[in-house]
Amino acid sequence: MELYLDSANIQEIRHVASLGIISGVTTNPSLLAKEDPTVDARSRILEIYESVGGHLSVEVISTDTDGMLREADDILTWFPDATIKIPMIPAGLAAVKELSRQEVPTNVTLIFTPTQALAANNAGATYVSIFLGRLDDISADGIQAAREVCEIWEAQALESLVIAASIRNPLHIIECAKAGADIATVPYKVLMQSLKHPLTDAGVESFLNDHRKMMDAKQKIGA
Ligand code: E4P
Repeated sequence: MELYLDSANIQEIRHVASLGIISGVTTNPSLLAKEDPTVDARSRILEIYESVGGHLSVEVISTDTDGMLREADDILTWFPDATIKIPMIPAGLAAVKELSRQEVPTNVTLIFTPTQALAANNAGATYVSIFLGRLDDISADGIQAAREVCEIWEAQALESLVIAASIRNPLHIIECAKAGADIATVPYKVLMQSLKHPLTDAGVESFLNDHRKMMDAKQKIGA
C-alpha cells in the first residue's frame, strides 16, 4: 500500500518527502486555508508539487459540472500531471466522466459508502477516496466501510485505485493495508506517530550507550 501525505504544510511535506516514504500528497480547501488563508492557492500548490514530484490531488471548489471542468482546465495549466479532486456529488460524477474521456486523472473525494465508491468508479474515477475518520466521528465504522469497498473491488476487479482517507490513527493505516487499499493518505502527525515505537528509541539509546562504554574502555587502555 502506498502512502500519501494529507497536508498543505510545506515544512511537513518536505520533511516526509525527504524520508522517502510517500509517493504523493493530497490537499483540500480546508488544509490550504489552515496553513495561510491569504496565500495564493496556485503558488502553494506549485510549491508542494516541486517538493514531492509524485501524485498531487488538487480539489475543485465549484459545485456545478461546468465550473468543475473550468477549474480543472485551469489547474492543469499550473502543472499538467495534476490529479483533479472532485466531490462525490452528481455534478461531480458528470465532471469525472468528462475528465476521464479527456484522460485527466481524477480523485473522487468525500466517499462514505461502497455505493458511492462504485458510482465514482463507473463514472471513470482514477481514485476513489473513502473517508474513515469522519465515519468514526459520527459513531459509524470507518474501517468496516473501507473493508467493504476493498472486498467489492476484489470481487469485481474494479479499476479505480482505492485511497483510504480521513485517517486518524496508525490502526486505520494497518487495517486499510490488510483490507487491500491501494493507498492511504495520512496526516503528518499520524504518519510520524506510525514510525515510532518506544522499544526502538530505547534500543537506539542502549546501543549508543554501549558503544560509548566500549570507546571509553579502549581510550583507557590507549588502544
Ligand atoms: C482526503 O483526500 C482528504 O483531504 C482528507 O483525508 C480529509 O480528512 P479529514 O477528515 O481529516 O479532514
